[in-house]
Order: sequence, then C-alpha cells, then structure tokens
Amino acid sequence: MEKLIVANLKMNGTNAEIEELLNQYSSSIKNRNIKVVMCLPFPYLNKFNHSQLSLGAQNVSNHQIGAYTGEVSAEMLADFKVEFCIVGHADRRRYNAENTMQCYEKILQLLNNNITPILCVGENEKQRQEGLTLKTIKKQVSGALKRLEPEQIEKVVIAYEPVWAINENVMVNTDEINNIAIEIKNIVAKLTKTQFNFVKNPIIYGGSANLNNAHDILSKKFINGLLVGRISLNTSNFIEMCNKI
Ligand code: PGA
Repeated sequence: MEKLIVANLKMNGTNAEIEELLNQYSSSIKNRNIKVVMCLPFPYLNKFNHSQLSLGAQNVSNHQIGAYTGEVSAEMLADFKVEFCIVGHADRRRYNAENTMQCYEKILQLLNNNITPILCVGENEKQRQEGLTLKTIKKQVSGALKRLEPEQIEKVVIAYEPVWAINENVMVNTDEINNIAIEIKNIVAKLTKTQFNFVKNPIIYGGSANLNNAHDILSKKFINGLLVGRISLNTSNFIEMCNKI
C-alpha cells in the first residue's frame, strides 16, 4: 500500500504563498511510493491543478444543501475535484465543538460524493493521564462509523492524532502508536464483522511528526501514512521528508 502523506495547511498562507508552495511540491517531490494530499483552505481549492499531488479539504458541512450560512457542502467540494477531506480534527472539536454525530454526518456526505473522509481521533492529555486513551478512541471511531454499511466504513482513512502531540514537539513513541493502530483496526474489524487481516482502512498518524521521526513512524507495520501540520508550511523540510520516506 502506498503511504499517504496528508498536509493540513490549516488557516495559513496567502494566495501567492500557496501557489508557490504547490508549485514547489509538485516539481520537487519525486517519491512515487507516496500519495501527497494537500488540504487547502476553502478559497484556494479552485487554484489546484497539480497532477502529482492530490487535493484535500479541511472541513465540510454535515448537511447536504440549504440555509446553512458559511458552510460548504460535499457536493461543492466534489465540483472542485476534492479527493479527500479531514473530519473531526482536534482543532475543530476544540474550537467548533465538532462532535461524533456530526463526524458521522460529514463522513456520509463525503462518501455520497465519492470523497475519501479522513477521520481524526485521539485522546487529550487528561484522558491519557487517566488511562482513558483506548476508551476515548473507541468512542470516537465507533460513534462516527457504526451507522455506516461495512462497504462505506472501509473507505474511511483513520488518523490517530493524540491531542497532546498536535502543534507540539513531543517525542513520538512509535511502538505506542503502532499498538493504537492495531486497536483501531480491531474496532473496525468488529464494526464491519471482518477479520483483522481483512480490514482495508489506512491508519495514519499525526501530531509532532517531522523530518526526524517520519521515517521511524512509517516503518511501523500498521501505520500507513502521516497527517502533518507545521512541517507542510516549511517547504524545504516537507520536500526532504517526502523524498526520504
Ligand atoms: P503538527 O499538527 O504536525 O503541527 O503537530 C498535526 C495536525 O494538526 O494534524
């Protein structure tokens, strides 16, 4: 399976800066064993014309159409050839109170428009300290996926992103994240009534991933990619990371 590198630009960049960044990534990333997904802010989605890179969005409405001021539907994203969309990122859970039911609704909208959802799950510092990591992840994964058909569930990419590692510089314990990826696969296996080995969902990792640890994280058996924030804004580091993997 090719590794998925999802770059979440968040609310950064001007028109000119994003154009420059995309030009550099599309001309300088030569590694054909990875798929690089650029999750751009909404206004820049229509600028994208880079066949070497894939287009992603950072959010979508949980509604199909109608009087939802300021929202963007999955159908609109599909109009701009968006292939992937992040759902339930910790930033949105924190600042926009995005909940598990909304995650489910967003995933459904995306799947109905042939866009691959990237569902983010992960415990916060307090939950970790209280030993609630697995319980939290189980609640987030099952809550978002349990109403879907198995054929729908298998199309969802799941990103394990411990909240305490996002936007920080923590030491990533690769064995620990590999074990969590195994747990996530177990949860999906149960939901889809399949055996562990037949679970198709890519499991990716995000939070403090950088040039130095990317290779180690990706060498873990059950980690199929990375979701990165800050490093995607540092063009030379991002290009080097992608070419080294
Ligand atoms: P970071 O962010 O790579 O800057 O830690 C990850 C994320 O927000 O998904």
